[in-house]
Amino acid sequence: MATGDIVAFNLLGVSGSMRLGSYSLKALTMVLESAASHSAQTKLLDLRTADLPMFSPDRDEHAASVIEATAMVTWADAFVLACPDYHGSMSGAIKNFLDYHWEELAGKLFGYLVSSHEKGLTVMDQMRTAVRQCYGWSLPYGVSLHGEQDFDEAGKPSATLDERLRMLARDVMVYGAMLRQQFQADIEQSVADSFASRYGNQS
Ligand SMILES: Cc1cc2nc3c(=O)[nH]c(=O)nc-3n(C[C@H](O)[C@H](O)[C@H](O)COP(=O)(O)O)c2cc1C
Repeated sequence: MATGDIVAFNLLGVSGSMRLGSYSLKALTMVLESAASHSAQTKLLDLRTADLPMFSPDRDEHAASVIEATAMVTWADAFVLACPDYHGSMSGAIKNFLDYHWEELAGKLFGYLVSSHEKGLTVMDQMRTAVRQCYGWSLPYGVSLHGEQDFDEAGKPSATLDERLRMLARDVMVYGAMLRQQFQADIEQSVADSFASRYGNQS
């Protein structure tokens, strides 16, 4: 499937840095712009401004910010999670965001971006584990970046980073669309032996 063949694909970028001027958010914005240039519909959920309260399973009524974030998650066919490396782990903001969801993530593809002074591999592994628990798929690779080295003073990415961000945008769309299409067909046809019929939601 070529990127140009994709019709009506919704990609949600989730930014997990609380830092003004975040490098991971900058890179995520570039991924979303690249996906939009290939005809994807894109939205950004910036957790620095979204103001999601700490998840509590005991809370019956949700804040407007949670309702809005959940609508974006339900809308999405695929995700790119962008996260700083904090102590080799995902940020609390990303974990808190993930804690709110599971069925809405099932059958959808996730790509990962990590801002790190190292390689960010443990951060990606943690996000992958959480996504897998929610029956989401993950791209086999992620993009890690070192903000001070990979962006110049004007905020322009290095050629290598630029290439990787475009690859991530392209792959999350192409593979995300295939998986989503199959997942929805399995739900619509109530395919008995599919995990879609057990875990999928119809929205
Ligand atoms: C609390 C904290 C812990 C951090 N731990 C690590 C770490 O373990 N490894 C690392 O490479 N960088 C670590 N960093 C550096 C950040 O990952 C780095 O500054 C990154 O660019 C932040 O992403 P952002 O620009 O998107 O906010 C840490 C930064 C903070 C504030």
